[in-house]
Amino acid sequence: MKKQAITLALIVAGTAVFAHGGVKDPDVMNRMMGMSELAKQLKVIGAMAKGETGFDAAASNAALAKMAEEASYIPTLFGPEATDPKSEALPVIWQEFDKFSARARDLQRVTGELAGTIESRADLGAAMKQVGQACGACHSAYRK
Ligand code: HEC
Repeated sequence: MKKQAITLALIVAGTAVFAHGGVKDPDVMNRMMGMSELAKQLKVIGAMAKGETGFDAAASNAALAKMAEEASYIPTLFGPEATDPKSEALPVIWQEFDKFSARARDLQRVTGELAGTIESRADLGAAMKQVGQACGACHSAYRK
């Protein structure tokens, strides 16, 4: 179960991290950079969960706090209905922007509540699962 959760979260974090190469629209670029920052922070935790890097409680809690901050920018970053051939954003985002923004707030809440609670490596699996689900809940509806 724990392993599955970590794999799920790493898939979410790992997909298309560099998809923004060649993007010309600045608004699309900005929101992709925001997403990449989320993926980067999730990877910090994922690497620790897998034992690739040494466990560091302060660093994991800081990564979660950074994710909460980054999640709070999502509605603003996606405010402009910007497009780019490289964008994976689905047009439905701007047809139901309230629902889309609610998914961003879910991620902000989950990461904000987790920040400060990580005390040992054992806490990371459940945290990754919760965060991965919050990313996935939005991606499954709003990303190609
Ligand atoms: C509120 C919705 C939402 C949430 C929550 C969300 N994403 Fe995204 N994400 C998107 C959308 C939409 C795109 C496609 C943006 C585009 O291509 O224009 C995207 C794209 C990405 C990309 C590709 C960026 C690129 O350079 O092309 C990565 C990586 C990513 N998200 C990671 C994450 C991670 C990790 C989380 C959770 C910690 C997360 N996302 C949470 C909506 C969301």
